Amino acid sequence: MSKTFEQFLSEQLTAGVIDQQLVNLLAAVAQLSKQINDKVTNGALAGVLGAAGTDNIQGEHQKKLDVISNEIFVRGVQWTGSVSGMASEEMDHCLVTPDAYRRGKYLILFDPLDGSSNIDINAPIGTIFSVTKAPKGEISDESFLQKGRKQVAAGYVMYSAQTILTVTVGKGVYMFTLDLSTGQYIMSKEAVHIAPSTAEFAINASNWRHWERPVQRYVQELLEGINGPLDKNFNMRWVAAMVAEVHRILCRGGIFMYPKDNRDPTKPGKLRLMYEANPMAFLIEQAGGRATNGYENILDIQPTKLHERVAVFLGSSEEVHRVTTYHI
Ligand code: AHG
Ligand code: MN
Ligand code: MN
Repeated sequence: MSKTFEQFLSEQLTAGVIDQQLVNLLAAVAQLSKQINDKVTNGALAGVLGAAGTDNIQGEHQKKLDVISNEIFVRGVQWTGSVSGMASEEMDHCLVTPDAYRRGKYLILFDPLDGSSNIDINAPIGTIFSVTKAPKGEISDESFLQKGRKQVAAGYVMYSAQTILTVTVGKGVYMFTLDLSTGQYIMSKEAVHIAPSTAEFAINASNWRHWERPVQRYVQELLEGINGPLDKNFNMRWVAAMVAEVHRILCRGGIFMYPKDNRDPTKPGKLRLMYEANPMAFLIEQAGGRATNGYENILDIQPTKLHERVAVFLGSSEEVHRVTTYHI
């Protein structure tokens, strides 16, 4: 019998892995992702393509779908009774749950629409989320600055040929495919495992000249294949949406890199620690892979800013280990 996401949550509740507030929150996330999926699928017909004409706090031009997805998440999560506050790529500061709603014991962070440059070309995009416990007292941006290791749940929804919800509550990684005929997420993979070795890598090589030496050395070796020190030929992929790269790695292994580069010393990488790197690192570790910033595990980094950026190397453990040793 096919297992729905709700059944999975109920089993985790019974097993004492998660509590009712987390069940409610994750069920809401799944529900909201269907609303975003609906917009994505209808594209031009839903009037959601193109630029919003605004910038976010990180100076990035927002797409209409960035803004719409953020609104869907903010509106849908705040009344669940499960969160005291939320933070998003598309909001300058955190949003404390309004007085009209019950405050819950959790905080949620999200990248409502990942891979924005793919929206208008009908290429894969996604939503990423991370859940931590809310500290006692007033909620502010500082409340969210917890190490990734403290996440109680994380996951993504990938909007592509199939819509797939991937989640961890700290006991392995599970995938659920959206059944368009019933509107239900049905479990399609469990005990997701990333093999330690791989022959596939992902990096935006157009940034080569800006990379630091350890990354240039590693990618040079990957490209040399059997003629170089790695003694193996590697294949390359780049989808330009972290959700899609992580999904591929969870399905068939690989290493994904978005290193720090020398263009702007104030930006240690492109990806954001709190709502991109941390939730993905949690999934990757739960599937037996590794995620580092070149020096330490992503999950052990003490965040200092809500929108802080970080270098990311994640995926099959042997290759992440190799590139990490090149840094040290
Ligand atoms: P976002 O759309 O949420 O800003 O994230 C985009 C990120 C990430 O998903 C992807 O890996 C990367 O940007 C793509 O960067 P390039 O445009 O440099 O390829
Ligand atoms: Mn993103
Ligand atoms: Mn985004």
